[in-house]
Amino acid sequence: MSELVIETSGLKRSFGDVHAVKGVDLAVKSGEIYGFLGPNGAGKSTVVKMLITLLKPTGGTATVFGYDVVEDAPKIRLRIGTALQDASLDEKQSGREILRLQGALYGLTRSETDTRIDELSSLIDVEAIDRWIGTYSGGMRRRLDLAASLMHSPDLLFLDEPTTGLDPQSRAQVWKEVRALNTELGTTIFLTTQYLEEADELADRVGIINDGLIVGEGTPEDLKRAIGADVIQIIVDDTDAAVAALEELSGVDHVERGPRALLVSVKDGAATVSPVVIALDNAGVDIGELTLRTPTLDDVFLELTGDRIEVSQ
Ligand SMILES: Nc1ncnc2c1ncn2[C@@H]1O[C@H](COP(=O)(O)OP(=O)(O)OP(=O)(O)O)[C@@H](O)[C@H]1O
Ligand SMILES: [Mg+2]
Repeated sequence: MSELVIETSGLKRSFGDVHAVKGVDLAVKSGEIYGFLGPNGAGKSTVVKMLITLLKPTGGTATVFGYDVVEDAPKIRLRIGTALQDASLDEKQSGREILRLQGALYGLTRSETDTRIDELSSLIDVEAIDRWIGTYSGGMRRRLDLAASLMHSPDLLFLDEPTTGLDPQSRAQVWKEVRALNTELGTTIFLTTQYLEEADELADRVGIINDGLIVGEGTPEDLKRAIGADVIQIIVDDTDAAVAALEELSGVDHVERGPRALLVSVKDGAATVSPVVIALDNAGVDIGELTLRTPTLDDVFLELTGDRIEVSQ
């Protein structure tokens, strides 16, 4: 199916003279997982809030299921689920109370609600369901919030940084659930993330947003292929000497000082490894470790924006 469930054109939002979203065009198809990837402050949450009708655009248009986000907000709200970045759950309610309240808000009967709670049990820590939220860990809260967003079986789910701050195990559980929703129920998912790995793992298509504008879009594979470079990661004893030796080498696009290693972008990795090793040897540089890898979305982001994504927790 190629029906568009989200469509925006020149979407903008300013807060006074802060131009958070500067003209975003999106076309998300039914059944896809769309990853919206960008660093802190890029405008991800602001776009999500406009799409879920919590915030009015200051320019452009947006429709969800063909309904205008300003004119038809109630119709949109009934069909979407949202798990927001700053979800604030009432500390003095139990998990079950939150889920029942959510069921009631969407018109489910008590028995429908309880059936749904059973269906969502993989997300819920069953032994903690009657405890106050105040006693939950960050991961438990996130998963409860996700379960709450799914009570009414929405066709379209918005997840704003669903795994930021989660431990790897909770993150893996959320990923599994997102995939299952998509493949088993056909739920369309619009997911924002600062994690390149997450977009790479989950998304059918990725839009990269930086400073309020989309700077790249495509499947993760397309985006990686588009930069047309391999990366050689090298740990050396003398970084300055290594950079000087490699910058002039033919086949090397650019050399960057990463936090742990030198990152050398090259057109053809396999053909360039030996010249790199020889050049470093000639310059008297000792190599601690050398790995050749295909580009990641982080490399794509660097190529598109000149910066790497800095992830904060
Ligand atoms: N209510 C507001 N009032 C003023 N400025 C705001 C408001 N909401 C967002 N902004 C600003 O808009 C910009 C985009 O913020 P937004 O929250 O959309 O970014 P984000 O991509 O979600 O970042 P993060 O990854 O940190 O969640 C930032 O400069 C932010 O400070
Ligand atoms: Mg945000």
